[in-house]
Order: sequence, then C-alpha cells, then structure tokens
Amino acid sequence: MNDDGIAQFNKVNLGSESTSSNTISEVTDKKRLNKQSQKPSNQLKNGLLGWYAICSSNNIKNERPYFFTMYNEPLVIYKDKELNLRCVKDLCPHRGASFIGGEVIDGELVCPYHGARYSSTGECTNLSRITCNHIVDDNYDNYASKIHLYQYICKEIGDYIYIYYTGKAKTNLNDFNVEDNINNRLLNNYGFDIGAYKYEEVVVDFKCDWARIIENHLDILHLFWVHGDTIPDNDVNRDVITSFNQEITREENQIESKYKYKDSSSGEFIRIKFLPPGRIVIYKGEPNEARYIQVLDHIPLSKNQARVIVRHYRKFMKNKFLTDLLLFRQLQHRVFYKVFSEDYMILRTQTYNNQMGFIEKDNVKLLGEDKMVQYYWDWFKSSETKDDPWELHPTDFNTNTVHEDISMLYPPANPKLEKDNTKSIYLNLAIRILIPIGLVLIIL
Ligand code: FES
Ligand SMILES: [Fe+2]
Repeated sequence: MNDDGIAQFNKVNLGSESTSSNTISEVTDKKRLNKQSQKPSNQLKNGLLGWYAICSSNNIKNERPYFFTMYNEPLVIYKDKELNLRCVKDLCPHRGASFIGGEVIDGELVCPYHGARYSSTGECTNLSRITCNHIVDDNYDNYASKIHLYQYICKEIGDYIYIYYTGKAKTNLNDFNVEDNINNRLLNNYGFDIGAYKYEEVVVDFKCDWARIIENHLDILHLFWVHGDTIPDNDVNRDVITSFNQEITREENQIESKYKYKDSSSGEFIRIKFLPPGRIVIYKGEPNEARYIQVLDHIPLSKNQARVIVRHYRKFMKNKFLTDLLLFRQLQHRVFYKVFSEDYMILRTQTYNNQMGFIEKDNVKLLGEDKMVQYYWDWFKSSETKDDPWELHPTDFNTNTVHEDISMLYPPANPKLEKDNTKSIYLNLAIRILIPIGLVLIIL
C-alpha cells in the first residue's frame, strides 16, 4: 500500500455512532477515551466467563480423552458410557494426579496413578481398587463420598464442542447457574443459511495474549497491509485499497461493524460481528449472500497461550471429488497457516508491549477506524474487572509448566503440521503428474 492508500483508508467515515471528522486528533482522541472509560460498562450482556467453543466434534473420539486448558485450569473432555460429553477438571480426586496417560474404558475415565474409575456422574466406581480393607477407618463412608470428579457443563452443537466456563468446576452439574442460552451459538442465528455452504477448518495456536488475537481479527486495516499478498482475494491487497463507510452498532449480544463501499451500488465490503466472550464472525458481503464467511473461536488456554478454531465457509468449490483432486483443503490450510504466521510476531511483540505497560501508558493512539477495537477493549476491560478470570487459577514463575509444554499443538506456535501439509501438497502434486505419464507410457 502506498501513502495515498493509507491516507485513503484513513478517510473512513465513522458511521452512525461517530463524530463527523475523518481522522481524530490526539486531543479529541484522548478526551474520547477518557470519556468512554468513565462509562459504567457497555451494552453487552456476556462477560469473559460463559460459553466457549473448545474444539470440533471430531476431536472427541471414543476412548480418547481430549486435554486442554482454560485460563490456566487443566481440563479433559471425554465421552461417557451413554456417549454424553463430559468436561472435567484434569485432576483425580484421589491424590491429585492428572488423567494424562490414563484411558477411557467402557465410558469411564481411568486414572493412570492407581486405576480409579469414574462414572458418568463423576463418582468413583471401584473404590476397592484404591483402598485396602484392613486400613479402612471409621470415616470411610465420608471419605468415599468425597471422591468425585469436578465438572463443567459441556454440549455438542453444529459440530462444535462448547463448555460453560465459570472457573469453578462443580461436582454436581445442576449447581451451575447458566445465564446464557446455548442456542444463541447456533450458526444459523447469524444471518446465513449454513446448509448453502461448505467449510474447511483450521486450528491455530499462539504463544501470546489471547485478547490481542481477538483485537487482530477485529481489525480490517491490517488485512490489506499484513496479509495483502497472501489472501487470494483481489479486493484485499496492498495496492487495491479503498475507503469505506463504517457503521458500528452495539447490542446486547454483539458488536457489529459494517464496512460499505462509498459507492452505494457496490454494497458491503465486509461485516464483522464480535460475539463475546470468544467468537468472531466475518462476512464477505452481506450475511444472506456472502461469498464466504469465517467463524473464529478464541480459546484462552493459559497466560500467553491461546488457540483459535477457524472455520471458513464458502459457496464455491463444493464438489468433494473436485476439491480432493485440486488439493483444495491442503491449499487452504497453507494460506491460513501463512496468514496466521504473518500475524504471529506482531501479536507476540504487542503482547510484550502490553505486559510491560507501554500500551497502557498512552503511548498508542486509537484512530477513527479503530472504533471497533475500542468498543472491544471497553467490553474487555469492564468484563476483566468483573470476572477477573486469570485470577481464578493464577500461575507465577515457580509454577511447573507441564500443561503449557503439551498444549501448543498447532501452527504457528508449533510448525509441525504446517510442514506436514506442505509435504502432502508436493507429494500429491507429484502423484497427480506421474499417474498420467505412467498411463501414457504403459499404452505406448
Ligand atoms: S491419584 Fe488417581 S487413582 Fe490415585
Ligand atoms: Fe491478521
């Protein structure tokens, strides 16, 4: 993008809730930020605790526990005897071992340390395995009743696994007070007919502050500059940059920003919805006719570690044979891994700057086109004060890093899958070229 391009983009109209000036001077900006920080809160109902999409259904296989962390708390999901999903704290209530290295046998979670097994409701089903009759004391019944898994509510909807995360796992799921309806998470509620699309899914891990990743995904401006050469869309590159009219609305369940072409006959360029605490939906065009839609779910694994599930819904290339033949899935993965690698260094250094307090010290200036980002931070800061999720299971430099060490599975933090994907592209290309050559040689 040339300087003209940047200037043009800066001429974004701030829309219905905004001032009429094209760029905001530092003085005005400071006043506005002060004024907003004095507002009691914002209109969004959900805070940082609540429903999170954690993974895809196909991550949960029978007999295979799925391990992850939420705000530093180690958790495990598995299917019980009745094939219901269970999300339990990764802590055996006998002597506190993790279930890593354990198994799911006949729908019961089995601890690797002494073999305790746990029923669907979380009770130990083989106390005799971990007790010796001759040392059972008077208090035995009391003791046995305390051997119980700690759980969170876990649901499967539309190929996503969700948990209702409060930071306080309970022995009885009925003790949770669920304030948000899970049906709000159905993708069909977001204005598009999901049946008309096919999707590819990519999962990515970052060693950085999860809140900064959300900020990145709400930011249109960087798409042109950082990803302009990577995103295969003629509308998004460093040279083709236009200015838009931006309209932002804040409602009970979402913040939404529409970027419309100045020429009204061209319609919408992009629409972004932020659905707290962790979901973003990006539409290329208006929702009911968008050419493609991305659904991004952000998971705060631990301090400085986050996972994002990206689903890329498209109306084109729906034929399975053709997509397999053209290696569409692998090529899409390649683009996504590249896009997220491009963000990675920025996110890590931005995290550092934030942690050092540089970003808080008025060293940064949010501009008019950053209004979506500003609204997001308004929500984040008020939710952080209210819910304080990182204080529920705080860690410090003395904390053993075992869960951190095993949690980074995906690119860009762990490049293995990216390399495997590239190898698979080259291998399949070679096969596709060699087979016809071989056939011709045989015929000759
Ligand atoms: S710690 Fe799990 S069975 Fe003993
Ligand atoms: Fe990005």
